[in-house]
Amino acid sequence: MQNRIIVAIDGPAGAGKSTIARAVAAALHAVYIDTGAMYRAVALSAIRGGKAFDDESALTKLAEEATIELGAGGLVRLDGEDVSGLIRTPEIAQAASKVSAIAGVRRAMVASQRRMAESCSVVMEGRDIGTVVFPEAQVKIYLDASPEVRAMRRVLEMRQKGMEADPAQVEAEIRERDYRDSNRTEAPLTQAPGAVYVDTSPMGVDEVVSTLLRIAGERIGKEVEA
Ligand code: DC
Repeated sequence: MQNRIIVAIDGPAGAGKSTIARAVAAALHAVYIDTGAMYRAVALSAIRGGKAFDDESALTKLAEEATIELGAGGLVRLDGEDVSGLIRTPEIAQAASKVSAIAGVRRAMVASQRRMAESCSVVMEGRDIGTVVFPEAQVKIYLDASPEVRAMRRVLEMRQKGMEADPAQVEAEIRERDYRDSNRTEAPLTQAPGAVYVDTSPMGVDEVVSTLLRIAGERIGKEVEA
């Protein structure tokens, strides 16, 4: 597709990637793709199938055979079943972090993510979008915030959904996941060459969105407004 725009947003858990990426996608008339949801769906399937998180061949097969569809409003389908709510638990977050360390799982997800952007502009968020999936993306952002701020945002988000959340436990889980995601051999979380680093700790959602749209405008060469 001519004039296809790819915005790659990477960063650690709780940096606000989903909220921000969704708003940026709407402003750019692009499709929002949450790649973490795909790893979460694989994790759910692994748990249901009783697979060990270090069983490389079983998890690779499972990832290759799974049909994962992403729809509007955060809809996630695994083999036709709506699993949107089921994958948003702390257990699945940790399990996703574990299964995503498997090379074969990543290979299957990356291939699928590239296909999703074949015929449309996308704002894709995850851990390896600017480094592996689309190193040639016109716009690359590394979204960060302090662990304390990220934990507090996650706590508020969970409480809004009626879930119980202990701030100290949420922060410990976030730190554990960050460590695993940043220190694995396969596509570890790191700032991609050419990515703009944005520390969102002192910023509200609107400010982050307008910052990203300004960066996108500079890179793409046209004015984009929130
Ligand atoms: O973005 P998230 O918290 O929903 O992601 C869940 C886990 O999936 C995360 O801890 C690491 C993994 N992940 C990944 O390895 N690569 C991506 N592009 C997206 C997520």
